[in-house]
This record gives sequence, C-alpha cells and structure tokens, in this order.
Amino acid sequence: MSEENGLYRPINLENISKGSNLTFDVYYESKSVGGTYVKFASADNPRHQEKVKEFLGNPDFNIQLYIEEKDLFKYYDQTTVSLKKMMESDVVPLKEKTKKVYSVSKEIMQDFFEFSATDKVLGSSEKVMEIMEDCISDNNVGFKAISQITNKDYYTYTHSVNVGLYCMTFGVKLKMGRDDVRELGLGGMLHDVGKAEVPHDLINKNGALTDEEFKIIQNHSPKGEEYLSNLNCYSQKVTCMAGQHHEKWKGGGYPKNLMGDQIAVNARICKIMDVYDALSTRRSYKKAMNSFEALTLMKQKMNDHFDPKLLNAFIRLMGPDM
Ligand SMILES: [Fe+2]
Ligand SMILES: [Fe+2]
Repeated sequence: MSEENGLYRPINLENISKGSNLTFDVYYESKSVGGTYVKFASADNPRHQEKVKEFLGNPDFNIQLYIEEKDLFKYYDQTTVSLKKMMESDVVPLKEKTKKVYSVSKEIMQDFFEFSATDKVLGSSEKVMEIMEDCISDNNVGFKAISQITNKDYYTYTHSVNVGLYCMTFGVKLKMGRDDVRELGLGGMLHDVGKAEVPHDLINKNGALTDEEFKIIQNHSPKGEEYLSNLNCYSQKVTCMAGQHHEKWKGGGYPKNLMGDQIAVNARICKIMDVYDALSTRRSYKKAMNSFEALTLMKQKMNDHFDPKLLNAFIRLMGPDM
C-alpha cells in the first residue's frame, strides 16, 4: 500500500452477513479533500449501523469502504463468523461455499504478503482453515473440485492458499485425524511466510539469479520457520513445513540438506503440493501445465525430490486425466 494511503485498507463488505452490526468503524475516500478518509459509520453509533445495514442490503450502493489497518483483525473476525453461518446454509451450493472460503483466505494472505498486515490476521487464517476442513471432510470434496476453485495465476498469496488447500485435501483423502488435517492445511498456507521479507522483484525475477540473490530467496524457509515459532501459537507440525519444504527426499535441498525421514512428513507433503502448484500456475514468463503434465514431470524428472510413497498416493488421488 502506498504511503499516502496511510493506515487505511479497502475491505469487502460482501463478506459480512446482511443484518449484522459492524464491530469496527468504516471510512470512504473523499476525492474532493485530496484523498483523505472520512468516517462513513462508527461501530458504536446505532444510527450509523442502520445506514450500514441499508448499504449491505442494496446492490446498487457500491462505494468502496475502508477500515483502519489496526482494526483489520476485527473485520476478519466478523468475516469468519459470517462464513461459518454461510457454511451451515442448506440453500448455498457447495461450490459457492468453497469459492467463498477460498476468496477470504486469499484476502487474508494478500493482506499479509502485499500490505504488510500484522501477524494478527494470521489468526484468522487458522479459523478459515478450520471452516474449510469442515467443508472438505463433511462433503468429501476431492482434488478435482479444489483444482477448479484455485487461482491459476501465480502470486505468493494465491500460491500459499492453493498449497494449503491441496495439503488439506490430501490429509482428508489419507484419512488423517481432523486436528492433523487442520495443521497440515494451515502449515501449507503458511509455508512461504518468510517470503514476506523477500523483495517482490526478486520473487518474480525471470532469469539467472546471482549467488547473493539465491541466498536471499533460500533464506525464506528458515526465516519463515523462525517467524512462526516466535509467534508461539503453532505446533512444530506447522512450523516444520515452513522450515523444511525445500528439502529433498534424496538430499541436496535447503536449508539443512536433510534426507528421507529426517524430513518431517508434513514437510514432505508440503514439498509435493508446493511444486505441483508452482507447475500448474502461470507466471509472466511461463504457461501453466495441466495436472497430467505437472505430475508426469514430477514423477519422471524430479523423482529424487519427493517421498515416493507420498507422490504415488498423490498421483493416485488426483486421477490420471483430471
Ligand atoms: Fe518456499
Ligand atoms: Fe512455496
């Protein structure tokens, strides 16, 4: 976010259930006063809240509203409550539900990676992952359905959510316990948090990297693990996924050059989903592969990178011609 926009962030009020009172103040941008933000509604003013309800119920009223960045976690708290309500609805189709959870997860990770939101928003990603786990487990959602909702343009934030969902679906299909599945999904979503420290130009650089640049990029893995560990709210099953997802089954990966079962199972799963998503999304300099092409390349050219049992299970679960 540019400096003149200060500490205000655009929000998507469609995520909030109609009829709700907002738990935070909202603002609009006043062009006439040189781009300053003017309060649209206070959380503690009943008259303002009536105005918000009208706004939420009227499809023609589409002014972009903003929130103070410090309140962002309140917006996501309210969003996740609304999301939960939507999940319980009998009239909303399953695909719409999964799409909505995906889009909220994307928003959270985008705030984190691109707008340097505080780590408080990551707490919301945990709640959203719980909702997604309920949805995938209860409805037996498979890779095919998940692939249809994932964004195929590569950004660090879409990649993070995609990897989280693939990891979660894999855990469900392998019949892991529900808590394990949630941690696997969450760890997948957070595996690249260390990239928040890497300059965008470097992440998107097409072409040979200097040794120095390569080191900076490689550092995202141990940095991410350290960052998550310091938050003191994630188990090792989650943090190891950030720290070990670039290790390779037969050695030669980074940061520690671990091998085989020295690498935690969750990190071995994350590695497969990480590469799969990178291959099956498009970037400015490369096309997206379809799932068959991606899996063939992983099996034939990168076999040493992955735990063979897990890779075979993934290929089996994806189906040959998805
Ligand atoms: Fe990574
Ligand atoms: Fe990644």
